[in-house]
Amino acid sequence: MSEAQWTAVDRYLSDLFGGSDPALEAALAASNAAGLPQIAVSPTHGKLLYLLAHSFVTQSGPGARKILEIGTLGGYSTIWMARALQADGRLISLEFNPKHAEVARANIARAGLSDRVEVRIGKALDTLPSLVNEAPFDFVFIDADKEGYCDYLAWSLKLTRPGSLIVADNVVRKGAVIDPGSPDAMVQGIRRFNQMLAAESRVSATAIQTVGCKGYDGFAIARVIA
Ligand code: SAH
Ligand code: DHB
Ligand code: MG
Repeated sequence: MSEAQWTAVDRYLSDLFGGSDPALEAALAASNAAGLPQIAVSPTHGKLLYLLAHSFVTQSGPGARKILEIGTLGGYSTIWMARALQADGRLISLEFNPKHAEVARANIARAGLSDRVEVRIGKALDTLPSLVNEAPFDFVFIDADKEGYCDYLAWSLKLTRPGSLIVADNVVRKGAVIDPGSPDAMVQGIRRFNQMLAAESRVSATAIQTVGCKGYDGFAIARVIA
């Protein structure tokens, strides 16, 4: 099995289950044109985030009421998740890089989601405390700097409620995550995160390996249970 084959199968799956999506395609094109790194989630992962966020149901119907994203980039995953909001729902996405935030805001506007999505600029550790007033969030997607994942998990637990979902990207890193002696600070950050998540009694969690057009990596998924 080769990366070319994973990519071809990913294309087959995203064509089947996603199909043409002008707002998302324009978001990627604008992000690439602006020189942003090509590290957004894949289309199939974006759809998974959408489905998980859409799995919440209240009296007013399906969809999450509040979503938090840590790491916006060009807003590709943001758009997927914002589409899972209830009509009066709200997504707040935290981004350190002002250029990324600017590209994301334009992409979110083009997707018709500006009324319910806010991109907050700053280091996530500086902006997270201001979210206490907006909590609880139904859904959190952690996807910023890997060294910060443990702090982001601690904040996610403060900002959610029993029943909320917390999803984290990049928890396998081409398999490097099993090397305790890895010199890669990102790998060490992810190792600490996985360990913390597994030991956290307030969540029920798992992690899955994934292959596809973004290579070999993984998602962690946790339900807050207490
Ligand atoms: N979720 C996006 C990809 C995010 S890439 C998607 O799938 O479409 C990671 C992003 O996190 C980058 O834009 C980077 O600038 C941002 N980032 C890195 N460190 C950060 C920090 N300390 N606080 C907030 N954002 C940060
Ligand atoms: C990389 C990939 C990501 O999805 C991310 O959020 C950060 C970095 C990478 O491949 O370097
Ligand atoms: Mg990622």
